[in-house]
Amino acid sequence: ATGVLLDRLQRPLTDLRISVTDRCNFRCSYCMPKEVFDKDYQYLPHSALLSFEEITRLARLFAAHGVHKIRLTGGEPLLRKNLEVLIEQLAALRTPEGQPLDLTLTTNGSLLARKAQALKAAGLRRVTVSLDGLDDLTFRSMNDVDFPVAEVLAGIDAAKAAGLGPIKVNMVVKRGTNEQEILPMARHFRGTGAVLRFIEYMDVGATNGWRMDEVLPSAEVVRRIAEEFPLTPLEATAPGETAQRWAYQDGGGEIGVISSVTQAFCRDCSRARLSTEGKLYLCLFANAGHDLRPLLRGGSSDEQITSAIGHIWQGRADRYSELRALRAPDTDGAAPRRVEMSYIGG
Ligand code: GTP
Ligand code: 5AD
Ligand code: SF4
Ligand code: SF4
Repeated sequence: ATGVLLDRLQRPLTDLRISVTDRCNFRCSYCMPKEVFDKDYQYLPHSALLSFEEITRLARLFAAHGVHKIRLTGGEPLLRKNLEVLIEQLAALRTPEGQPLDLTLTTNGSLLARKAQALKAAGLRRVTVSLDGLDDLTFRSMNDVDFPVAEVLAGIDAAKAAGLGPIKVNMVVKRGTNEQEILPMARHFRGTGAVLRFIEYMDVGATNGWRMDEVLPSAEVVRRIAEEFPLTPLEATAPGETAQRWAYQDGGGEIGVISSVTQAFCRDCSRARLSTEGKLYLCLFANAGHDLRPLLRGGSSDEQITSAIGHIWQGRADRYSELRALRAPDTDGAAPRRVEMSYIGG
């Protein structure tokens, strides 16, 4: 085991997000726009992907450095074959204190109705489902593959029935596209035990044509909901948490807002991201990662890899969202070419 590992801004490493595939069956325009991710798009070949054994080995070494939360992402993680096998391996890992890790997964929900039971049985603790609206036409056009909303709602129900809760539901809000879904979503998930979170549309990646005027600030989301259902702010449950939490005053549960654009939360950011092919990214907006795969495939010992991870984290000074806030609000041109979110995971 190692001592507490801090980066250059004194932030510990507690949270590892692992992308298990760069593919997705949706084409959300803010993430994998059809014009770019078309039939000619070159996804990673199978040999480039980390194997389950390689992922689990790295996760074990990260846990020794203080990681106690692992999130599987993609692309769409449920497209990775036999994902339950990886989950079983990860569920067997322990922190230096002997605790199991908080093991969770972010999914678009399309395959959840079919897979929820098996995921739970394999040791997954909970899931977060992305859902950008309840209106079927709006939802079909946002996923851009004409996928019906009813199947995702069935997936959420199946996850709940399987005990993969409390379930979080993430809605990316785009002004002029799905803002009219904010209140229907709030009404639908109130009192169900699911936690609905509204995400500000972010300038992540280089292909989505992001513009500031399509961002609806979280303060406005909260204002619109509070007009119908009074809200009270809640304390953060952990430092560096992405969401600001609000409780319905009438006991209908809680919501969250994730405000990377208008209220950056880099100060306590303890998240590292591992890409599908084994590159370690220190920020969602980084333009390059640190390749760990040559160490895995070149015979490095656990000690050597652990020490490499330590050095990489100790060199980290990333705080992209904070820096963006210091630039002119309507530009994004100052930033270097950034990695795609479908490749390193949300
Ligand atoms: P929970 O512990 O389940 O609440 O996890 P979480 O808060 O990390 O939530 P989740 O993984 O669902 O992340 C929600 C969304 O927040 C992601 O899909 C991203 O859009 C955004 N997000 C997560 N982490 C970061 C981050 O480090 N930086 C920025 N800018 N956005 C992030
Ligand atoms: N802005 C905000 N959230 C995004 N996501 C993907 N791309 C963006 C973006 N440009 C979200 C998805 C999902 C999670 C994986 O990341 O909706 O909830
Ligand atoms: Fe797929 Fe999620 Fe990206 Fe949409 S946001 S294209 S569901 S990975
Ligand atoms: Fe962390 Fe980068 Fe997101 Fe800031 S922008 S919270 S440093 S991942």
